[in-house]
Order: sequence, then structure tokens, then C-alpha cells
Amino acid sequence: MKQMLQDLRDASLKAILDCEDAELLESLRVKYLGKKGELTAILRQMGKLSAEERPAMGQLANKLRADIEEAIENRNKVISALKMERRLISESVDVTLPGKRYLLGHKHPMYNVLDQIKDIFIGMGFEIVDGPEVELADYNFTKLNIDEGHPSREWTDTFYFTEDSSILLRTQTSPMQIHAMETKELPIRMIAPGRVYRKDEVDATHSPMFHQIEGMVIDKGITMADLKATLNLVVEKIYGEGTVTRFRPHHFPFTEPSCELDIQCHKCGGVGCPTCKGEGWIEVLGAGMVHPKVLAGCGIDPDVYSGWAFGMGLERLALGEYKINDLRLIFENDKRFLEQF
Ligand code: PHE
Repeated sequence: MKQMLQDLRDASLKAILDCEDAELLESLRVKYLGKKGELTAILRQMGKLSAEERPAMGQLANKLRADIEEAIENRNKVISALKMERRLISESVDVTLPGKRYLLGHKHPMYNVLDQIKDIFIGMGFEIVDGPEVELADYNFTKLNIDEGHPSREWTDTFYFTEDSSILLRTQTSPMQIHAMETKELPIRMIAPGRVYRKDEVDATHSPMFHQIEGMVIDKGITMADLKATLNLVVEKIYGEGTVTRFRPHHFPFTEPSCELDIQCHKCGGVGCPTCKGEGWIEVLGAGMVHPKVLAGCGIDPDVYSGWAFGMGLERLALGEYKINDLRLIFENDKRFLEQF
């Protein structure tokens, strides 16, 4: 039996030292020390020994159990250290490798201009409002006093969703005047920037989608003088102090009187050059006093309240500001172009 214990000692300690895996080590523990393990099997045979032999063998067996346990414990420590080492090696970072470059986007040049305009109006107490691009013809035309037969309602000019011409892509931001008057408490001071759509072929100055900024003030005692003073101020903030303006009579169905605002060409000082196409003046926006019929249609008493409104194209402003000569560049999203701003 002594020999058996010695053999088990040799075999087990060697197996434990050779083991490199925690799970395998655990199976070794079972194999040698478990209830059905090899040491237990030897101890079962103790009965065969004489009473004199038994204590010495018992001692030897206990010693062997303790030694195997200790060997397993030590090996366990080695194995976890090994494991950690392997993990550190496999997860090591090569700090000399080139890094990944994360490309940061930036604001589109047209939105720089829009934000500048928003700031100007916010500074004057205006509210920024947002509205639907898919609009009812009622809001895009009818409530704006635009007759059934008006050319801008033509299918050749407007994108319609329904055969009966009742739903469309808004052709202007002016329906935002109606939405504001119908939903807001008076007085109103708002601007509403957004996309508008017209059936235009794409070229250097046209796009079927473009941006407008609508603006409107409704209060008691508002006159054309407020319109002129406010818009003059806005123009000076955009184009610089001392910019000369001209309010030219015009016609819009939803304003009366109506006008267009031109600025004297800042390039040639009004003499005429390519920038102003020889005119000396550059058209900036359409405006006017909100038509009494439009006010009344929105439930506002035109004898008590009055207001002015304007609509301005955003692209043209951005093109001018950044000296861009082709509208298509604004929408094509070519990074080589956009990265210049
Ligand atoms: N909606 C008009 C256009 O698209 C501009 C405008 C707005 C004119 C508000 C007067 C008042 O041309």
C-alpha cells in the first residue's frame, strides 16, 4: 500500500505541475481526491491492513492528501497568473500605430446665413416658428387671398398630391402667416424659415426646392413705417451700415400695399456691374401690409389690428454673402465645396 501511495504521489504531483488550465486542474482534484477518486480507492483498502500498520499508512495518506491539495492551490495561482499574462499580451495596444481620424462635420454655409438672420430677429423680440412643407391649398393660396384662377396655382408650377389640387408642397412660406394668426395670441412677432417647392428646372439660379424666410408682425397701430424701419435695420445688419435701400411698389394678393425691397449694389455702388446684372440694384425680398381680408379670414379684426409681412429667399443671400456663382453648389453637398466655409 505504501508503494501505491507513493505511485499516486508521483503521478498526481506531476500531473498537477503539468496542468495549464483551471478547469483541467479541478478535474484532477476530483480524479485524485474526490469521493470516487484514486486516494479514496486506496484508503478503502486500509481494512486489509493489520492494526499496527494502519496508523502509519493513515498518516501517509493524510500527508499525501494535504500535499496534493497544496499543490493544486499553488498551481491554481500559477495558472491565473499565466492567464493574466496571456490576456495582457493579447490585449496589448501598439501605441505606435497611426490613429483613426474622425472627421468632424460643420455647418452648411447657407445655415450660417440663416443663423445670422435668426439672431438679428431674435434680438428684436421675434419668435422662430416652424411649419409643414406638405400644405393645404387653403393655406398656401386661398386664405392668402390668392384666387382660384391665379397662375401660381397652375399644375405646371406647383407640386400637387391630389387630383383635386387640395394638398401640395408649399410654394412659399407665407402659409406660416395664416398658421401663426390662427394659433397665436396677439401681438405676433415671428419669422418662419423653411423649404419651399416649385416646378422649376435646375440651373445656376433655379432649383425645385429652395428656402424662404417669412416674417410677420401683427399688433395695434402697425404701419408701413414699422415695416420700412425694421427691414432697413435688418438689411444694414446683413449688408453693413449705410446700405442704401429702395422700396419699390409691387403686388402680392395677401398684402396691401405691397412692395419689393432692393439694395443698392454694394459691388458697384449703383452704377451697374455683373453682380447686379447692370441694374445697380439687387432685389432682396417681397413685403407689404397684411391684407385686411387675410386678417379677417384668420379672425383678427382689421379695424383694431394691422401688420406687415415679408418673404425672403435664403439661397440668394448665401450666394451673395459667399460670392458663390451657382445655386447647385449649395445643394450638391460636394465636400470639396463645403469644406471651404
Ligand atoms: N410669398 C412671397 C413670395 O414668395 C413673398 C412675400 C411674403 C411677399 C410676405 C409679401 C409678404 O414671393
